[in-house]
Amino acid sequence: EIVDTIAALRSRVATRRSAGPLGLVPTMGALHEGHASLIRQARAECSTVVLSIFLNPIQYDRPEDLERYPRSLDVDVALCASLGVDFVFAPSVAEMYPVPLECRVEVGRLADHLCGKFRPGHFSGVATVVLKLFEIVQQDRAYFGEKDAQQLAVIRRLVSDVNIPTTIIGVPTVREPDGLALSSRNQRLDSRERQLALALVR
Ligand code: PAF
Repeated sequence: EIVDTIAALRSRVATRRSAGPLGLVPTMGALHEGHASLIRQARAECSTVVLSIFLNPIQYDRPEDLERYPRSLDVDVALCASLGVDFVFAPSVAEMYPVPLECRVEVGRLADHLCGKFRPGHFSGVATVVLKLFEIVQQDRAYFGEKDAQQLAVIRRLVSDVNIPTTIIGVPTVREPDGLALSSRNQRLDSRERQLALALVR
């Protein structure tokens, strides 16, 4: 079932809580085999699986990056159905941010290097939306790809620093045959950039 409001998601999930562990797979859509592996693990370990699709504007420091992010809701929902996701939570920006935020999660040292050094405010935006999703769904287990290693470290630390009662599961990276990690953004690489990206694996 596709649910697009916080109130509806909360009421659906409430009816399933007693059935056993609730799993959340947070995504921004444009799902690929890497996401499928998160879903399969959640499906194997949880009675109810919620997958969120929300292209979170506050984690983008460059508007063109947000505009160019691939969008494919119908295909995403079909994949979720085929893998047994119970609820796809796909809220609008207005639903998640009805008014501009006054309070955000501040991420310290963990965000000042690697990817964070080049994307000011990115991990604060990620931590803020993840905290919101965790408060909305109140899952037992949440699944994230190890590919986004810095993001995973930030989220683990968020959960420990503010005492969120959830288990964070890091799921191994899924790769192309030549070693490139699957990523929605790979669609934006031309053939030269696709070759250059293999430097990351090496
Ligand atoms: O990794 C992502 O897809 C996003 O950063 C996340 C965790 C869903 C937060 O918007």
